[in-house]
Amino acid sequence: MSEENLQSMSDLVSLCKSRGFIFQSSEIYGGLGSCWDMGPLGVELKNNIKNAWWRSMTFRDDVDGVDAAILMHPLVWKASGHVDNFTDPLVDCKSCKGRFRADQIDLKAPCPTCKAKDSFTDIRNFNLMFTTHMGAVQETAAEIYLRPETAQGIFVNFLNVQSTMRRKLPFGIAQIGKAFRNEITPGNFIFRMREFEQMEMQYFIKPGTQAEAMEMWKETRFQWHLDMGLRKEKLRFHKHEALAHYADAAFDIEYEFAHGWGEMEGIHSRTDFDLKQHMEFSKKNLMYVDQMDGNKKFIPYVLETSVGADRSLLAILSDAYRVENKGDAEKERTVMRFKPSLAPIKAAIMPLMKKPELEGTADKLLRELQKDFKCDYDTAGSIGKRYRRQDEAGTPACITVDFDTLTDQAVTVRHRDTMVQERIALDKVKMYLKDTFNL
Ligand code: GAP
Repeated sequence: MSEENLQSMSDLVSLCKSRGFIFQSSEIYGGLGSCWDMGPLGVELKNNIKNAWWRSMTFRDDVDGVDAAILMHPLVWKASGHVDNFTDPLVDCKSCKGRFRADQIDLKAPCPTCKAKDSFTDIRNFNLMFTTHMGAVQETAAEIYLRPETAQGIFVNFLNVQSTMRRKLPFGIAQIGKAFRNEITPGNFIFRMREFEQMEMQYFIKPGTQAEAMEMWKETRFQWHLDMGLRKEKLRFHKHEALAHYADAAFDIEYEFAHGWGEMEGIHSRTDFDLKQHMEFSKKNLMYVDQMDGNKKFIPYVLETSVGADRSLLAILSDAYRVENKGDAEKERTVMRFKPSLAPIKAAIMPLMKKPELEGTADKLLRELQKDFKCDYDTAGSIGKRYRRQDEAGTPACITVDFDTLTDQAVTVRHRDTMVQERIALDKVKMYLKDTFNL
Protein backbone atom coordinates (compact mmCIF):
# COMPACT_ATOMS: atom_id res chain seq x y z
CA MET A 1 0.00 0.00 0.00
CA SER A 2 1.35 3.47 -0.88
CA GLU A 3 0.58 6.44 1.29
CA GLU A 4 0.85 10.17 0.58
CA ASN A 5 0.69 13.07 3.05
CA LEU A 6 -1.05 16.37 2.35
CA GLN A 7 0.63 17.92 -0.71
CA SER A 8 -1.19 21.22 -1.12
CA MET A 9 -3.50 23.41 0.90
CA SER A 10 -6.11 23.33 -1.88
CA ASP A 11 -6.60 19.55 -1.37
CA LEU A 12 -7.38 20.20 2.28
CA VAL A 13 -9.65 23.16 1.50
CA SER A 14 -11.75 21.04 -0.86
CA LEU A 15 -12.01 18.11 1.58
CA CYS A 16 -12.98 20.52 4.38
CA LYS A 17 -15.75 21.95 2.23
CA SER A 18 -17.07 18.69 0.78
CA ARG A 19 -17.12 16.88 4.14
CA GLY A 20 -18.54 19.80 6.14
CA PHE A 21 -15.50 20.77 8.22
CA ILE A 22 -15.06 24.41 7.14
CA PHE A 23 -17.02 26.77 4.88
CA GLN A 24 -16.22 30.25 3.64
CA SER A 25 -18.02 32.90 5.70
CA SER A 26 -21.09 34.40 3.95
CA GLU A 27 -20.37 32.15 0.97
CA ILE A 28 -23.70 32.80 -0.81
CA TYR A 29 -22.77 36.52 -0.89
CA GLY A 30 -19.36 35.84 -2.41
CA GLY A 31 -17.58 35.37 0.91
CA LEU A 32 -15.92 37.70 3.40
CA GLY A 33 -12.13 37.95 3.28
CA SER A 34 -10.36 35.63 5.71
CA CYS A 35 -13.42 34.79 7.76
CA TRP A 36 -14.43 31.13 7.93
CA ASP A 37 -17.35 29.17 9.38
CA MET A 38 -17.00 25.86 11.14
CA GLY A 39 -19.31 23.25 9.60
CA PRO A 40 -20.85 20.29 11.47
CA LEU A 41 -17.61 18.25 11.54
CA GLY A 42 -15.35 21.30 12.02
CA VAL A 43 -17.18 22.48 15.12
CA GLU A 44 -16.99 19.00 16.68
CA LEU A 45 -13.27 18.67 15.95
CA LYS A 46 -12.51 22.18 17.18
CA ASN A 47 -14.57 21.68 20.34
CA ASN A 48 -12.63 18.48 21.03
CA ILE A 49 -9.33 20.36 20.61
CA LYS A 50 -10.52 23.20 22.86
CA ASN A 51 -11.74 20.70 25.47
CA ALA A 52 -8.39 18.89 25.40
CA TRP A 53 -6.56 22.20 25.92
CA TRP A 54 -8.98 23.34 28.64
CA ARG A 55 -8.60 20.09 30.56
CA SER A 56 -4.81 20.14 30.17
CA MET A 57 -4.77 23.58 31.80
CA THR A 58 -7.57 23.76 34.34
CA PHE A 59 -7.29 20.17 35.62
CA ARG A 60 -3.82 21.16 36.91
CA ASP A 61 -3.83 22.28 40.52
CA ASP A 62 -2.15 25.60 39.70
CA VAL A 63 -4.39 26.96 36.89
CA ASP A 64 -7.91 28.48 36.98
CA GLY A 65 -10.06 29.44 34.02
CA VAL A 66 -11.93 32.64 33.11
CA ASP A 67 -14.14 33.78 30.26
CA ALA A 68 -13.78 37.54 29.96
CA ALA A 69 -15.88 39.86 27.77
CA ILE A 70 -14.65 40.57 24.25
CA LEU A 71 -15.47 44.27 24.67
CA MET A 72 -13.22 45.97 27.21
CA HIS A 73 -12.61 49.48 28.51
CA PRO A 74 -10.72 51.41 25.78
CA LEU A 75 -7.96 52.30 28.26
CA VAL A 76 -7.04 48.60 28.46
CA TRP A 77 -5.67 48.84 24.91
CA LYS A 78 -3.85 52.09 25.61
CA ALA A 79 -2.20 50.48 28.65
CA SER A 80 -1.32 47.28 26.78
CA GLY A 81 0.38 49.25 24.00
CA HIS A 82 -2.01 48.06 21.28
CA VAL A 83 -3.35 51.55 20.46
CA ASP A 84 0.14 52.86 19.78
CA ASN A 85 2.11 49.82 18.68
CA PHE A 86 -0.18 47.11 17.27
CA THR A 87 0.52 48.10 13.70
CA ASP A 88 1.82 46.63 10.46
CA PRO A 89 3.72 48.73 7.90
CA LEU A 90 1.50 49.05 4.85
CA VAL A 91 1.85 50.17 1.22
CA ASP A 92 -0.77 50.49 -1.53
CA CYS A 93 -0.23 49.98 -5.24
CA LYS A 94 -1.40 53.21 -6.93
CA SER A 95 -2.19 51.28 -10.08
CA CYS A 96 -4.28 48.25 -8.95
CA LYS A 97 -5.09 49.53 -5.41
CA GLY A 98 -3.71 46.28 -3.97
CA ARG A 99 -2.57 46.52 -0.34
CA PHE A 100 0.60 44.83 0.94
CA ARG A 101 2.67 44.54 4.09
CA ALA A 102 5.79 46.57 3.40
CA ASP A 103 7.93 44.03 5.27
CA GLN A 104 6.70 41.15 3.10
CA ILE A 105 7.41 42.43 -0.43
CA ASP A 106 10.35 43.96 -2.30
CA LEU A 107 9.38 47.63 -2.65
CA LYS A 108 11.87 48.12 -5.50
CA ALA A 109 10.29 45.33 -7.58
CA PRO A 110 7.08 45.71 -9.66
CA CYS A 111 3.72 45.23 -7.91
CA PRO A 112 3.25 41.46 -7.35
CA THR A 113 -0.39 41.68 -8.51
CA CYS A 114 -0.49 44.00 -11.55
CA LYS A 115 3.28 44.19 -12.29
CA ALA A 116 3.19 48.03 -12.45
CA LYS A 117 6.60 49.61 -11.79
CA ASP A 118 7.31 52.31 -9.14
CA SER A 119 3.66 52.19 -8.09
CA PHE A 120 3.86 51.91 -4.29
CA THR A 121 2.71 54.66 -1.91
CA ASP A 122 4.88 55.68 1.07
CA ILE A 123 4.84 53.25 4.01
CA ARG A 124 2.09 53.94 6.56
CA ASN A 125 1.51 52.26 9.91
CA PHE A 126 -1.84 50.50 9.97
CA ASN A 127 -3.42 49.56 13.30
CA LEU A 128 -4.79 46.02 13.22
CA MET A 129 -7.54 46.55 15.80
CA PHE A 130 -11.17 46.63 14.68
CA THR A 131 -13.14 49.50 16.21
CA THR A 132 -16.82 49.71 16.96
CA HIS A 133 -19.11 52.05 18.91
CA MET A 134 -20.68 51.51 22.30
CA GLY A 135 -23.90 53.35 23.09
CA ALA A 136 -27.20 53.85 21.27
CA VAL A 137 -26.34 56.94 19.21
CA GLN A 138 -23.25 56.56 17.07
CA GLU A 139 -22.23 60.25 17.17
CA THR A 140 -22.03 60.32 20.95
CA ALA A 141 -20.98 56.73 21.48
CA ALA A 142 -17.55 55.78 22.75
CA GLU A 143 -15.21 54.19 20.28
CA ILE A 144 -14.17 50.77 21.56
CA TYR A 145 -12.20 47.84 20.16
CA LEU A 146 -12.83 44.20 19.39
CA ARG A 147 -10.07 42.52 21.40
CA PRO A 148 -7.02 41.57 19.32
CA GLU A 149 -5.91 39.01 21.94
CA THR A 150 -7.57 37.34 24.91
CA ALA A 151 -4.59 37.94 27.22
CA GLN A 152 -5.69 41.37 28.45
CA GLY A 153 -8.94 39.90 29.86
CA ILE A 154 -6.69 37.78 32.06
CA PHE A 155 -4.37 40.59 33.19
CA VAL A 156 -7.25 42.84 34.27
CA ASN A 157 -8.70 39.95 36.29
CA PHE A 158 -5.42 39.02 37.97
CA LEU A 159 -6.45 40.37 41.39
CA ASN A 160 -10.02 39.05 41.16
CA VAL A 161 -8.81 35.50 40.53
CA GLN A 162 -5.91 35.63 42.95
CA SER A 163 -8.06 36.86 45.83
CA THR A 164 -11.23 34.80 45.19
CA MET A 165 -9.30 31.55 44.63
CA ARG A 166 -6.78 32.38 47.41
CA ARG A 167 -3.90 31.74 45.03
CA LYS A 168 -0.21 31.91 45.89
CA LEU A 169 2.47 32.32 43.24
CA PRO A 170 3.08 30.59 40.95
CA PHE A 171 -0.38 30.15 39.46
CA GLY A 172 -1.96 30.53 36.05
CA ILE A 173 -5.17 31.81 34.48
CA ALA A 174 -6.43 30.19 31.29
CA GLN A 175 -8.94 31.42 28.75
CA ILE A 176 -10.34 30.41 25.36
CA GLY A 177 -12.03 33.04 23.23
CA LYS A 178 -12.41 34.99 20.03
CA ALA A 179 -9.89 37.60 18.93
CA PHE A 180 -10.05 39.96 15.97
CA ARG A 181 -7.28 41.45 13.83
CA ASN A 182 -7.70 43.42 10.64
CA GLU A 183 -4.81 41.55 8.99
CA ILE A 184 -3.51 43.20 5.83
CA THR A 185 -2.33 40.05 4.13
CA PRO A 186 -4.48 37.25 5.45
CA GLY A 187 -4.62 33.90 3.72
CA ASN A 188 -3.46 30.30 3.57
CA PHE A 189 -6.95 29.05 4.45
CA ILE A 190 -7.47 29.36 8.23
CA PHE A 191 -3.79 30.07 9.01
CA ARG A 192 -4.26 33.85 9.17
CA MET A 193 -7.83 34.96 9.80
CA ARG A 194 -9.45 38.25 10.74
CA GLU A 195 -11.66 36.56 13.35
CA PHE A 196 -10.08 33.63 15.16
CA GLU A 197 -9.88 31.90 18.52
CA GLN A 198 -7.02 31.89 20.98
CA MET A 199 -6.27 29.55 23.88
CA GLU A 200 -4.09 31.57 26.23
CA MET A 201 -2.65 31.02 29.67
CA GLN A 202 -0.82 33.57 31.80
CA TYR A 203 1.35 32.04 34.51
CA PHE A 204 2.10 34.52 37.29
CA ILE A 205 5.49 33.97 38.89
CA LYS A 206 8.08 35.53 41.20
CA PRO A 207 10.53 37.80 39.37
CA GLY A 208 13.73 35.84 38.80
CA THR A 209 11.98 32.49 38.18
CA GLN A 210 11.10 33.15 34.55
CA ALA A 211 13.83 30.92 33.01
CA GLU A 212 12.61 27.92 35.03
CA ALA A 213 8.96 28.63 34.14
CA MET A 214 9.92 28.97 30.48
CA GLU A 215 11.55 25.52 30.48
CA MET A 216 8.56 23.92 32.19
CA TRP A 217 6.00 25.45 29.81
CA LYS A 218 8.07 24.82 26.67
CA GLU A 219 8.16 21.12 27.51
CA THR A 220 4.50 20.96 28.63
CA ARG A 221 3.19 22.71 25.55
CA PHE A 222 5.33 20.75 23.07
CA GLN A 223 4.08 17.53 24.64
CA TRP A 224 0.47 18.73 24.31
CA HIS A 225 0.84 19.07 20.54
CA LEU A 226 2.32 15.55 20.40
CA ASP A 227 -0.62 14.33 22.49
CA MET A 228 -2.96 15.82 19.87
CA GLY A 229 -1.43 13.32 17.46
CA LEU A 230 0.92 15.65 15.55
CA ARG A 231 4.08 14.03 14.20
CA LYS A 232 7.23 15.07 16.04
CA GLU A 233 9.18 15.75 12.84
CA LYS A 234 6.56 18.34 11.87
CA LEU A 235 7.08 20.35 15.06
CA ARG A 236 9.99 22.54 16.14
CA PHE A 237 10.86 25.45 18.41
CA HIS A 238 11.84 28.81 17.01
CA LYS A 239 13.72 31.16 19.32
CA HIS A 240 13.00 34.87 18.88
CA GLU A 241 16.23 36.81 18.49
CA ALA A 242 14.53 40.23 18.25
CA LEU A 243 12.27 40.57 21.28
CA ALA A 244 9.08 42.61 21.70
CA HIS A 245 9.49 45.56 24.07
CA TYR A 246 7.73 43.70 26.90
CA ALA A 247 9.56 40.36 26.63
CA ASP A 248 12.85 39.03 28.01
CA ALA A 249 12.64 35.67 26.17
CA ALA A 250 10.31 34.22 23.55
CA PHE A 251 9.90 30.95 21.67
CA ASP A 252 7.37 29.79 19.11
CA ILE A 253 6.25 26.24 18.50
CA GLU A 254 6.13 25.93 14.73
CA TYR A 255 4.39 23.34 12.57
CA GLU A 256 5.29 22.46 9.00
CA PHE A 257 2.05 23.39 7.21
CA ALA A 258 1.47 22.70 3.49
CA HIS A 259 2.68 26.27 2.77
CA GLY A 260 5.81 25.89 4.94
CA TRP A 261 6.85 26.22 8.59
CA GLY A 262 4.60 28.62 10.52
CA GLU A 263 3.97 29.74 14.09
CA MET A 264 1.34 27.75 15.94
CA GLU A 265 1.98 28.85 19.51
CA GLY A 266 3.94 31.60 21.25
CA ILE A 267 5.58 31.02 24.64
CA HIS A 268 6.64 34.42 25.92
CA SER A 269 8.29 35.64 29.09
CA ARG A 270 6.49 38.99 29.40
CA THR A 271 8.19 40.30 32.58
CA ASP A 272 5.95 42.58 34.70
CA PHE A 273 5.13 44.79 31.72
CA ASP A 274 1.38 44.18 31.49
CA LEU A 275 0.48 44.35 35.19
CA LYS A 276 2.70 47.43 35.61
CA GLN A 277 0.96 49.17 32.73
CA HIS A 278 -2.50 48.31 34.07
CA MET A 279 -1.48 49.57 37.50
CA GLU A 280 -0.43 52.86 36.02
CA PHE A 281 -3.47 53.36 33.78
CA SER A 282 -6.14 52.05 36.19
CA LYS A 283 -4.51 53.56 39.29
CA LYS A 284 -5.33 50.30 41.10
CA ASN A 285 -2.80 48.48 43.22
CA LEU A 286 -2.02 45.15 41.51
CA MET A 287 0.92 44.29 43.78
CA TYR A 288 1.20 40.76 45.11
CA VAL A 289 1.84 40.40 48.85
CA ASP A 290 4.14 37.44 49.49
CA GLN A 291 3.05 36.08 52.88
CA MET A 292 5.72 33.37 52.65
CA ASP A 293 8.43 36.03 52.43
CA GLY A 294 7.81 38.69 55.09
CA ASN A 295 4.82 40.26 53.29
CA LYS A 296 7.14 41.52 50.56
CA LYS A 297 5.20 43.39 47.84
CA PHE A 298 6.02 43.14 44.15
CA ILE A 299 4.45 42.96 40.70
CA PRO A 300 4.49 39.34 39.46
CA TYR A 301 6.25 38.38 36.25
CA VAL A 302 4.27 36.53 33.60
CA LEU A 303 5.03 33.51 31.44
CA GLU A 304 2.46 33.32 28.65
CA THR A 305 1.46 30.41 26.43
CA SER A 306 -0.73 31.44 23.50
CA VAL A 307 -1.96 29.05 20.83
CA GLY A 308 -4.50 29.72 18.09
CA ALA A 309 -7.35 27.19 18.24
CA ASP A 310 -7.71 27.54 14.47
CA ARG A 311 -3.96 27.08 13.86
CA SER A 312 -4.04 23.98 16.02
CA LEU A 313 -7.09 22.80 14.06
CA LEU A 314 -5.26 23.45 10.76
CA ALA A 315 -2.21 21.52 11.95
CA ILE A 316 -4.36 18.59 13.12
CA LEU A 317 -6.31 18.53 9.84
CA SER A 318 -3.08 18.73 7.80
CA ASP A 319 -1.31 16.06 9.83
CA ALA A 320 -4.25 13.65 9.71
CA TYR A 321 -4.70 13.89 5.93
CA ARG A 322 -3.51 10.84 3.94
CA VAL A 323 -4.18 9.53 0.47
CA GLU A 324 -3.66 5.79 0.16
CA ASN A 325 -2.96 4.05 -3.16
CA LYS A 326 -3.13 7.26 -5.17
CA GLY A 327 -3.93 6.67 -8.83
CA ASP A 328 -5.45 3.23 -8.24
CA ALA A 329 -9.15 3.88 -8.83
CA GLU A 330 -10.15 0.64 -7.10
CA LYS A 331 -8.18 1.12 -3.92
CA GLU A 332 -7.59 4.87 -3.56
CA ARG A 333 -8.98 6.46 -0.45
CA THR A 334 -8.48 9.69 1.46
CA VAL A 335 -8.46 9.11 5.18
CA MET A 336 -8.28 11.57 8.06
CA ARG A 337 -6.26 9.78 10.71
CA PHE A 338 -7.38 11.85 13.69
CA LYS A 339 -6.54 10.65 17.13
CA PRO A 340 -9.87 8.90 17.97
CA SER A 341 -10.62 11.10 21.01
CA LEU A 342 -10.47 14.17 18.70
CA ALA A 343 -12.45 12.68 15.81
CA PRO A 344 -15.71 14.59 15.19
CA ILE A 345 -17.72 11.35 14.89
CA LYS A 346 -16.64 8.30 16.87
CA ALA A 347 -18.75 5.64 15.18
CA ALA A 348 -20.97 5.31 12.11
CA ILE A 349 -23.78 2.80 12.31
CA MET A 350 -24.71 1.25 8.98
CA PRO A 351 -27.57 -1.16 8.38
CA LEU A 352 -26.45 -3.23 5.39
CA MET A 353 -29.78 -2.64 3.62
CA LYS A 354 -32.84 -0.52 4.20
CA LYS A 355 -34.86 -3.36 5.74
CA PRO A 356 -36.98 -2.79 8.85
CA GLU A 357 -35.43 -5.70 10.76
CA LEU A 358 -31.89 -4.37 10.19
CA GLU A 359 -32.82 -0.74 10.76
CA GLY A 360 -34.60 -1.60 14.01
CA THR A 361 -31.46 -3.19 15.46
CA ALA A 362 -29.20 -0.44 14.05
CA ASP A 363 -31.42 2.25 15.51
CA LYS A 364 -31.36 0.63 18.95
CA LEU A 365 -27.56 0.42 18.84
CA LEU A 366 -27.36 4.07 17.73
CA ARG A 367 -29.53 5.23 20.67
CA GLU A 368 -27.32 3.30 23.09
CA LEU A 369 -23.99 4.60 21.70
CA GLN A 370 -25.30 8.19 21.41
CA LYS A 371 -25.54 8.34 25.20
CA ASP A 372 -21.74 8.45 25.23
CA PHE A 373 -20.43 9.52 21.80
CA LYS A 374 -21.22 11.57 18.73
CA CYS A 375 -22.36 8.99 16.14
CA ASP A 376 -23.52 9.02 12.55
CA TYR A 377 -26.24 6.87 11.02
CA ASP A 378 -25.52 6.15 7.38
CA THR A 379 -27.80 4.24 5.02
CA ALA A 380 -26.99 5.92 1.69
CA GLY A 381 -25.13 4.04 -1.05
CA SER A 382 -23.04 0.88 -1.06
CA ILE A 383 -21.11 -0.12 2.07
CA GLY A 384 -17.86 0.70 0.20
CA LYS A 385 -19.05 4.26 -0.52
CA ARG A 386 -20.17 4.69 3.07
CA TYR A 387 -16.72 3.57 4.32
CA ARG A 388 -15.01 6.11 2.05
CA ARG A 389 -17.24 8.91 3.32
CA GLN A 390 -16.48 8.02 6.94
CA ASP A 391 -12.74 7.72 6.17
CA GLU A 392 -12.80 11.31 4.91
CA ALA A 393 -14.62 12.37 8.07
CA GLY A 394 -12.00 10.55 10.14
CA THR A 395 -14.52 8.28 11.90
CA PRO A 396 -12.53 5.59 13.78
CA ALA A 397 -15.18 2.84 13.58
CA CYS A 398 -17.88 1.82 11.11
CA ILE A 399 -20.40 -0.65 12.49
CA THR A 400 -22.42 -2.75 10.08
CA VAL A 401 -25.65 -4.45 11.05
CA ASP A 402 -26.23 -7.34 8.61
CA PHE A 403 -28.55 -10.31 8.33
CA ASP A 404 -26.29 -12.46 10.52
CA THR A 405 -26.83 -9.90 13.30
CA LEU A 406 -30.41 -11.11 13.60
CA THR A 407 -29.22 -14.57 14.57
CA ASP A 408 -25.77 -14.08 16.19
CA GLN A 409 -26.57 -10.75 17.94
CA ALA A 410 -23.20 -9.38 16.74
CA VAL A 411 -22.05 -6.65 14.35
CA THR A 412 -19.02 -6.04 12.12
CA VAL A 413 -16.73 -3.26 13.35
CA ARG A 414 -14.43 -1.93 10.64
CA HIS A 415 -11.37 0.06 11.70
CA ARG A 416 -10.59 3.30 9.86
CA ASP A 417 -6.78 2.99 9.77
CA THR A 418 -6.25 -0.73 9.16
CA MET A 419 -9.62 -1.49 7.51
CA VAL A 420 -9.55 -4.68 9.59
CA GLN A 421 -13.02 -6.00 10.43
CA GLU A 422 -14.02 -7.71 13.64
CA ARG A 423 -17.23 -9.34 14.79
CA ILE A 424 -18.35 -7.92 18.15
CA ALA A 425 -21.36 -8.87 20.26
CA LEU A 426 -24.04 -6.15 20.24
CA ASP A 427 -24.00 -5.77 24.01
CA LYS A 428 -20.18 -5.37 24.05
CA VAL A 429 -19.88 -2.74 21.31
CA LYS A 430 -19.79 0.30 23.59
CA MET A 431 -17.15 -1.15 25.90
CA TYR A 432 -15.16 -2.34 22.88
CA LEU A 433 -15.11 1.17 21.36
CA LYS A 434 -14.15 2.77 24.69
CA ASP A 435 -11.29 0.32 25.26
CA THR A 436 -9.99 0.16 21.70
CA PHE A 437 -10.05 3.89 20.98
CA ASN A 438 -9.47 5.22 24.48
CA LEU A 439 -12.69 7.26 24.41
N1 GAP B 1 -1.15 37.28 23.72
C1 GAP B 1 -0.08 37.02 22.83
C2 GAP B 1 -0.49 36.93 21.43
O1 GAP B 1 -1.61 37.22 21.06
P1 GAP B 1 0.40 36.31 19.05
O2 GAP B 1 1.70 35.66 18.65
O3 GAP B 1 0.03 37.58 18.37
O4 GAP B 1 0.51 36.49 20.63
C3 GAP B 1 -0.74 34.03 19.52
O5 GAP B 1 -0.76 35.26 18.86
C4 GAP B 1 -1.27 32.92 18.64
O6 GAP B 1 -2.58 33.28 18.13
C5 GAP B 1 -0.43 32.64 17.40
O7 GAP B 1 0.65 31.78 17.68
C6 GAP B 1 -1.44 32.02 16.47
O8 GAP B 1 -1.60 30.65 16.79
C7 GAP B 1 -2.73 32.74 16.83
N2 GAP B 1 -3.00 33.83 15.87
C8 GAP B 1 -2.50 35.09 15.88
N3 GAP B 1 -2.98 35.79 14.84
C9 GAP B 1 -3.81 34.98 14.16
C10 GAP B 1 -4.61 35.12 12.98
N4 GAP B 1 -4.69 36.27 12.32
N5 GAP B 1 -5.35 34.06 12.55
C11 GAP B 1 -5.30 32.88 13.24
N6 GAP B 1 -4.56 32.69 14.34
C12 GAP B 1 -3.83 33.71 14.80
